[in-house]
Amino acid sequence: MVETRLIDGKAFAETMRARLKDEVAAFVNETGVTPGLAVVLVGEDPASAVYVRNKGKQTLEAGMASIEHKLPADTAQDDVLALVRALNADDAVHGILVQLPLPAHIDAQAVLATIDPAKDVDGFHVVNAGRLAVGLDALVPCTPLGCVMLLRDTLGSLAGLEAVVVGRSNIVGKPLAQLLLREDCTVTIAHSRTRDLPGVCRRADILIGAVGRPEMIRGDWIKPGATVIDVGINRVAGADGKGRLVGDVAFAEAQGIAGAITPVPGGVGPMTIACLLANTLTAARRQVG
Ligand code: GUN
Repeated sequence: MVETRLIDGKAFAETMRARLKDEVAAFVNETGVTPGLAVVLVGEDPASAVYVRNKGKQTLEAGMASIEHKLPADTAQDDVLALVRALNADDAVHGILVQLPLPAHIDAQAVLATIDPAKDVDGFHVVNAGRLAVGLDALVPCTPLGCVMLLRDTLGSLAGLEAVVVGRSNIVGKPLAQLLLREDCTVTIAHSRTRDLPGVCRRADILIGAVGRPEMIRGDWIKPGATVIDVGINRVAGADGKGRLVGDVAFAEAQGIAGAITPVPGGVGPMTIACLLANTLTAARRQVG
């Protein structure tokens, strides 16, 4: 049995936001420009509405301007594209985030491709994804960035470690693999078609759950002493009939096996918004020059 350390993403994100608030104040003082983050929400997905509300609140708390556009679910794709173009041209807007998922009649790739890469604070535009892949300066997706910050804080150097990322999404799995490669990890991306997934996971010094399947990664898939980062946020029925949030990792089973693990909630989640605010300040600095 090892003693499993809890990785407190909530506290780390709070410290980060306090530092950002000071940096934003210095930037405003120096340039007279208030960094502005525009968030576009199409439709009424309840989880998305919660995220957007939290983003708006924390943007204001950091001393930045929050511009929210909430559009009905049946908004035509051309109208979403026209809004993105208007935000691209608006000097008060330094960061643009279009909340995903979008309704099925809208081509998400077409929308993301329309965002000015300099304002793409999600790092989802192919220009930013490509820049990350070839090792150029890029706006980097927020959740993967938050994961790597927690790993660096927990482990120090990640060089030479075996990292297994379970999940291959464009939002988390793929960019996280790129970031871990940049940290000199040996990186495996595993997914639903991976043969002997438990065996692949057991190789990992760093194990990342990013599939969106409640408690899929079991305790005996974890190498003793490994660092586990759980990106999943899944709502399941609790014993009391109310919903409760669980990650992609069976958290109770990981106790005594993992060396360190992020809880759900309070692990990776708060880091995503903190990194979004950091990206918005970075984007504003580059635009204001
Ligand atoms: N939906 C779930 N996560 C994200 C994210 O990081 N950015 C955006 N735009 N949508 C999301």
